[in-house]
Amino acid sequence: MNITYYGHSCFGIEVNGKHLLFDPFITPNEMAKHIDIKSVKADYILISHGHEDHMADAEVIAKRTNAEVICSWEINVWLGKKAVNNIHPMNIGGKIKRDFGNIKAVVAMHSSSLPDGTYGGTAMGFVIETEQGNFYYAGDTALTYDMKLIGDYRKIDFAFLPIGDNFTMGVDNAIIATEFIKCDDIIGMHYDTFELIKVNKEEAITKFKNHGTSLTLMNIGETISK
Ligand code: NI
Ligand code: MN
Repeated sequence: MNITYYGHSCFGIEVNGKHLLFDPFITPNEMAKHIDIKSVKADYILISHGHEDHMADAEVIAKRTNAEVICSWEINVWLGKKAVNNIHPMNIGGKIKRDFGNIKAVVAMHSSSLPDGTYGGTAMGFVIETEQGNFYYAGDTALTYDMKLIGDYRKIDFAFLPIGDNFTMGVDNAIIATEFIKCDDIIGMHYDTFELIKVNKEEAITKFKNHGTSLTLMNIGETISK
């Protein structure tokens, strides 16, 4: 798998020759000005919830790529009104099969409204199951005991967890989440983009290390392999 970071909570994952794009928020992100969104590939766009910092570029990228958009029923209706045609609605607990593997929508403890204030349904996370490994994309969430279900459900090889605090869990709760999901290989997200979610990156990495876990904080535009 190849993982490319586009800033904030936006990642592109290449698996089995397919491109999954999570929570596209690139053009409004001051830290991601060097990313050309026309270069962002997508066969699938997964949206965890309706907040603008998770879907600002979803409509434009969906229309350019004709990627299948995976999101809540409510976001599906909203994007449908904007003439995004290739959408698959889900809700937490559901699982769908695709050519690269499976997508399971899981609990996220967070709110969800669309940029114009429309109700966005329930916020979600995703567990992605593939022959190359499984990973968990938490979306925006507090630490929740429901994460223990994820650890019991599948072997999670690596996970994307928010660490920025204030709107989501912070570093200390994310470390507890690693125990719940039984995964020690974490990629951090949802930090530094805004003043309210600035973190001390060195300290965060050290805290994870002291706990026997690994926190990777990718540079925007960087690609790593797993
Ligand atoms: Ni949010
Ligand atoms: Mn957010």
